[in-house]
Amino acid sequence: AYVVVDNCIMCKYMDCVEVCPVDCFYEGENMLVINPDECIDCGVCEPECPAEAIKPDTEPDLEKWLALNAEYAQLWPNVTIKRDAMPQAKEHDGREGKLEAFFS
Ligand code: SF4
Ligand code: F3S
Repeated sequence: AYVVVDNCIMCKYMDCVEVCPVDCFYEGENMLVINPDECIDCGVCEPECPAEAIKPDTEPDLEKWLALNAEYAQLWPNVTIKRDAMPQAKEHDGREGKLEAFFS
């Protein structure tokens, strides 16, 4: 599966939701996640994210993010329509420590 990682937080550009053929993105206030059980590994979303926040879970050290995506995909609503990015998306793009500071 593909997963959304920390640089989505407070950016939420949302380009990813429009391209997913199985509509498996879920939306929190500051971040999206992918439901790894629904993702068909097509890879289409990865290059669409301006924040480079989508990775295949075959990359190293993504266990935490896979678990977070799986957990919050059960709690958050499905999202299929792209809206505006977060207001300070550019300022937050690439910041460290977003999970601790902002995740919700
Ligand atoms: Fe959707 Fe494909 Fe991205 Fe999985 S890899 S979330 S199926 S666009
Ligand atoms: Fe987040 Fe990138 Fe989608 S910033 S909302 S994963 S386009």
